[in-house]
Amino acid sequence: MTINQAAALLHQGGLVAFPTETVYGLGADASNEAALRKIFAAKERPLDHPLIVHISDVLQLNQWARDVPPAAMKLAQAFWPGPLTIILKKQPSVLPIVTAGQDTVGLRIPNHPIALALLTAFGGGVAAPSANKFTHISPTTAAAVQAELGGEVDLILDGGNCTVGLESTIIDLSREQPVLLRPGMITREAIESVLGEPVLLQQDRAVIAPGMHEKHYAPTTRTQLVSPVVLADFLHSNECNEPIAILALSPLGYLPPPIKVVQMPTDAAAYAKMLYRTLRELDNEHYSRLLIEAVPCSKEWAAIRDRIQKASQ
Ligand code: TXA
Ligand code: MG
Repeated sequence: MTINQAAALLHQGGLVAFPTETVYGLGADASNEAALRKIFAAKERPLDHPLIVHISDVLQLNQWARDVPPAAMKLAQAFWPGPLTIILKKQPSVLPIVTAGQDTVGLRIPNHPIALALLTAFGGGVAAPSANKFTHISPTTAAAVQAELGGEVDLILDGGNCTVGLESTIIDLSREQPVLLRPGMITREAIESVLGEPVLLQQDRAVIAPGMHEKHYAPTTRTQLVSPVVLADFLHSNECNEPIAILALSPLGYLPPPIKVVQMPTDAAAYAKMLYRTLRELDNEHYSRLLIEAVPCSKEWAAIRDRIQKASQ
């Protein structure tokens, strides 16, 4: 029943926050300009940031995108439903507010039963950015959406904790060669192995790229990224009478207050799932600083490295 109510709200031009496997989205009918304007108002997001259109079936792709290359179908088959957004040339009918006036549109089939049920009941495309205020940390629980945007959404669908915990990988297939616009838990290497060709990294591109120019994914508490060596030195020095929270990978053992240690998982997927929820909880506890211990340099950690770098800029 709630899913039908949520779909009806979308048809009426309302805003529905819903869970996906990555983070919660703030959804509106992607073909209703007035509804889309409400997304930007609620998030306090500038209009030059395009929105991702969520669909439930790959057959809907051609309603939004044109000249869909075989590479897109390969990636859709390998990774959808899942945490991958594909940027393609847009159909002329796609509203400029969705694409920030660009000739491309981002599309994704999310892998979450509630998201898929909502998209199926609604029948069309749902534009959904992460359900947070502009530049804040993306929400990975319904309570986090309530705290960020509770007064501004018509309905929040509660799907518990997001299982991936970081925003989708974004790959641009609208150019001559594939370009990775945002790293995610589907790695560049996994995409290259499906495509059988190299994926370029974003460099000096004219398009608006997520998180490239302003502070993104950021806690309000001052946050610093520290190497294991710097962290160990800091803890052995006698300067620890400030309330500091540490996201640690090295086993630090017990440290007395005012220091709080959150021992993070050493598995990348488990770490990603916990990261935003942990940052949000620590942010609410008002430490003077958050220290995040640097994570491994291997490919599984690339998206996490990206987000913790941005959190500590
Ligand atoms: O995991 C996700 O992708 C989540 C869930 C809700 O699906 N959504 C999400 O949306 O992270 P958002 O709006 O917070 O981030 C999407 C990013 C934006 O920063 C935007 O700049 C970029 O995708 N984007 C969207 N359409 C684009 C396009 N046509 N060209 C280049 N970048 C685009
Ligand atoms: Mg976002």
